[in-house]
Amino acid sequence: MIQKTAILVVSFAMVLTACGGDSATDDTSSDTGLAVTSTDGEELFKRTVLANNGGCIACHSLTPDKVLVGPSLADIGATAATRIPGTSARDYLLQSITDPDAFLVEGFDPGRMPGNWTDGLSTEQITAIVDYMLTLGTS
Ligand code: HEC
Repeated sequence: MIQKTAILVVSFAMVLTACGGDSATDDTSSDTGLAVTSTDGEELFKRTVLANNGGCIACHSLTPDKVLVGPSLADIGATAATRIPGTSARDYLLQSITDPDAFLVEGFDPGRMPGNWTDGLSTEQITAIVDYMLTLGTS
């Protein structure tokens, strides 16, 4: 119980930090997915439309083992490091966004996950999404 409370407090502090500065409050583009300006990784991840594609959450659930179009990412912060021997969790997650077919999760076909994220998202935004995914399943 004490541990859970501590996690909550830490998460809240992280949210507060993430909301500091020029966050997405004046971003009117969330409906179209065009000209994305937010740099909040969790918020970007959870958009249903993102950078002219269906958003991450449209294909990836955060419920363990629940497959939508792609695998559940409920534990990806923990499993990413185990996917490609010698590749860190961060590098694997970055590659999974910029070059989705380079490594295929067992049981999934190539060509389903869009590979054009860098057309609509900045390096900073992609890094923020990776940072968010690194937190999933690790607490
Ligand atoms: C149209 C559906 C679709 C969308 C949208 C999509 N993905 Fe995927 N994704 C997939 C599929 C299918 C796979 C499995 C095939 C593969 O490994 O490339 C996958 C694989 C992944 C993996 C590897 C998971 C693992 O267990 O190793 C990650 C990480 C990932 N996607 C992140 C994202 C992020 C972040 C976004 C948003 C920027 C996103 N995906 C958007 C369909 C999608």
